[in-house]
Amino acid sequence: MQVHAQASDEADPAVAELIAARPHLSMHPMDGLVLEDVPLNAVADALGTPVWVYGAGTMRRRLAELTSALSDLPIHIHYAVKANDHLAVLKIFAAGGAGADVVSEGEFARARHAGIAARDIVFSGVGKTVAELRLALAQGVGQINVESAAELAMISEVARALGRTAPVALRINPDVDAGTHAKITTGKAENKFGIPYAEAAALYAHAASLPGIEPVGIALHIGSQILSFAPYRAAYARAADLVRDLRAGGQRVARVDCGGGLGIGYRDDSGASPIAFAGALRGAFAGLDVELMVEPGRWLVGPAGLLLSTVVLTKADEKFVVIDAAMNDLVRPAMYDAWHAIVPLSAGNAVGAARPVDVVGPVCESGDTFANARLLPALAAGDRVAILDAGAYGAVMSSTYNARPLAPIALVDGSRWAVIRPRQSISDLWAMERVPDFLPG
Ligand code: LLP
Repeated sequence: MQVHAQASDEADPAVAELIAARPHLSMHPMDGLVLEDVPLNAVADALGTPVWVYGAGTMRRRLAELTSALSDLPIHIHYAVKANDHLAVLKIFAAGGAGADVVSEGEFARARHAGIAARDIVFSGVGKTVAELRLALAQGVGQINVESAAELAMISEVARALGRTAPVALRINPDVDAGTHAKITTGKAENKFGIPYAEAAALYAHAASLPGIEPVGIALHIGSQILSFAPYRAAYARAADLVRDLRAGGQRVARVDCGGGLGIGYRDDSGASPIAFAGALRGAFAGLDVELMVEPGRWLVGPAGLLLSTVVLTKADEKFVVIDAAMNDLVRPAMYDAWHAIVPLSAGNAVGAARPVDVVGPVCESGDTFANARLLPALAAGDRVAILDAGAYGAVMSSTYNARPLAPIALVDGSRWAVIRPRQSISDLWAMERVPDFLPG
């Protein structure tokens, strides 16, 4: 399945089809594109472009939909903070009952700052440092997902020194191909993640014997933007087998952390169904008497975020549409060949004959391309567009490459909206820099 490739045989959906597939968006004849109840032109008028806009109601609704689909399972949702770590986003998910999945001291601190209790935080990641482990354990982190024997030894030492017991889950590598882009597949044997399946049982027994360690279960995460459930079923079946083997060997296994990865529909499809996800979980774990955890990121926030941009100019007989957003803002197309829908902000621009154009940014790299040969209605300098489904792995992956300040972020909630991060100023770009005295002048 060509979920990420730009070079796809699928025809580009028309603007109307893209909007119809997204209940949080609508096109009004006068106001243009509307997110929840806020016309996006109003945000762009006030803040300029490029600008990110997130829909709080959309995030809440998606968390509620996922929670409801999973409601007959003994499960807890830990939002994967890496997808979008803004404090307001964390607060929305925490208020909806989610805990957090974090992978760094910074994410741990953000989650705590947003009011998420340490016991509701899972610390994942393949290279947690001693300092990070110490901080997490001192605050009473809910679970540490261990990715190697070396890390297990580190945790035991840190926990002992603090006089704490670390609740750990062993992250196993089930050697299953998630069928997604190579850069975001994580559950194959050759990937750096997790403990080889064949070594997991012995390491679990070893963990149980170590001071300062309480093995609470196993964890797995096979990749991201997963749209087919066969890989989930295969990986979860292996996890369930491991739980049975461990218990047969006398180990206590209370939890299985099933990871994230649920894909969204970047075109006019609806993405992975939470109901089908619940089915895969139930199929593997029903009757096993384990608590389950999931760590979704993209599915919860991806569709809720947009990046608004203005056409700077067109060139080469309108083959290129140069916009004021770039790969430094949204890197996914350049990095993963990701296909993001692009729709005009004005109703007048959304109709009319579509023709293939390359939508590109101003950064000095050919990879600074949002879309190749994309069928779009005519766009001229000054027209605005929205790049859709940019709420996950969007602003969090931005850089200031080409000395481009970080774009501002607005949060819409129904008919209200507020700035939740102002535009970075030009002088902010060098505010942290120091020029040593020994340099001339
Ligand atoms: N849990 C673990 C251990 C993870 O590594 C990840 C994502 C998640 C949960 C959340 O996965 P999600 O539900 O969002 O698929 N930057 C890439 C995606 C990288 C995903 C990394 N790990 C992109 O823009 O497609």
